[in-house]
Amino acid sequence: MISRTSRNECFVYFTLPRETEFVTAGKFELTTNRQGNPTGKFVYGRSYLERDDAVPIDPLALKLSTKTYETHLLNGVFGALRDASPDYWGRRVIEKYVGQTELGEIDYLLHSPDDRAGALGFGLNREPPAPRRRFNQTIELERLQALAEIIIADEELPEGADAEQIQGLVGGGTSMGGARPKAVVEDDNALWIAKFRHPEDKWNDARVEHAMLLLARECGLQTAESKLVSIGEHDVVLIKRFDREHSKTGYRRGRMLSALTLLRADENYQNRDNWSYVLLVEELRRVSSQPRTDGLELFRRMCFNALISNVDDHPRNHAVVAMNTDWKLSPAYDLTPSTPISIERRDLALECGDMGRYAHAENLLSQSARFLLKPDDARNTMDVIEKTITARWYDIARKVGVTEKDCERIAGAFVYPGFRLETAAQ
Ligand SMILES: Nc1ncnc2c1ncn2[C@@H]1O[C@H](COP(=O)(O)OP(=O)(O)O)[C@@H](O)[C@H]1O
Ligand SMILES: [Mg+2]
Repeated sequence: MISRTSRNECFVYFTLPRETEFVTAGKFELTTNRQGNPTGKFVYGRSYLERDDAVPIDPLALKLSTKTYETHLLNGVFGALRDASPDYWGRRVIEKYVGQTELGEIDYLLHSPDDRAGALGFGLNREPPAPRRRFNQTIELERLQALAEIIIADEELPEGADAEQIQGLVGGGTSMGGARPKAVVEDDNALWIAKFRHPEDKWNDARVEHAMLLLARECGLQTAESKLVSIGEHDVVLIKRFDREHSKTGYRRGRMLSALTLLRADENYQNRDNWSYVLLVEELRRVSSQPRTDGLELFRRMCFNALISNVDDHPRNHAVVAMNTDWKLSPAYDLTPSTPISIERRDLALECGDMGRYAHAENLLSQSARFLLKPDDARNTMDVIEKTITARWYDIARKVGVTEKDCERIAGAFVYPGFRLETAAQ
């Protein structure tokens, strides 16, 4: 394992559609320009470009070409690469493992194991490594959860838990994004993201997340498959990875890009102008092989998020995926209800229409044409979702074991009064 470096370049590996082994796709370099801004450069390798089966790692921003691409967004890390890099949770695990904080962006890429989202890999050798064959198994979940808790509490690692174990246990999953503690496990010839409990959870998150995915499915959304497992006293939700497909020779990998990348957006608050469902659906129309289906699907997700007060619907919680050559909207994931104090106005993370981020029926309908929907169809779609949530959220939650107490805690999330509040604009 590489220790802390101030490395400023690495090779980018890629698993071609239907393949299970990496090839070298190009080189990434990260420098600082004269103004002190991080500058990322990416160039495809000549041998990669010469392949008949070469596909771009990002069909919009990094088309197949001999040119050197440059970016200043996202600390100089191209969105496609940033999407394969760990987030808050994975970074904490890596820092614990390396024993140092504030690593460079390339260090995080190099330290994260190859189970990252999408089809990319990173390394210092021109030749890519062999794919990993051993994955954490569900039977190891209890240990994984225990290690995750140690990292959350920032305690010393237990006697005997050497760095290699951390790498082997919690390590699987550090590359996946998101803030919640998680690990990747293999079960039933598939890879799953195991999401663990966090001591600050306000309710049983595992059960509630599973319930939301089932509720979303009843509302007509395409969702990631999920299941619950109990370890000791805790519940863990397993979310089946939609960017992996088991085959005889290993796991095939789909390419994946977050909405943050599609929107060419940044993460900081000053730069959120293009955090928008309306802009996202336009990008989807450019990239998707099924723009009508995906337009309707994104509209459904926006409605669903508004109606369960999922105000954490930020651009990393939406993605497009290409298992083969065609891109489409990924199944929905990370659907979390919230209960803000305000019952008059709740804002989603992305703009939804003419009234900005306001989770309000008329706002959501205001730009329905851009989702390729007729006004009546959009209204009917929204009404069905609203009725289904009202009628079904409680039963579904109880059926998957959300307690009565937790149902009381989340009740205020569903179809909040402000959704139909009369506004001055009407
Ligand atoms: N089913 C899935 N298949 C593949 N990648 C996924 C799946 N679910 C989530 N991801 C990826 O993992 C990241 C973290 O997952 P998420 O459920 O959003 O965790 P968190 O609650 O910590 O934000 C997502 O941003 C997405 O890139
Ligand atoms: Mg998330």
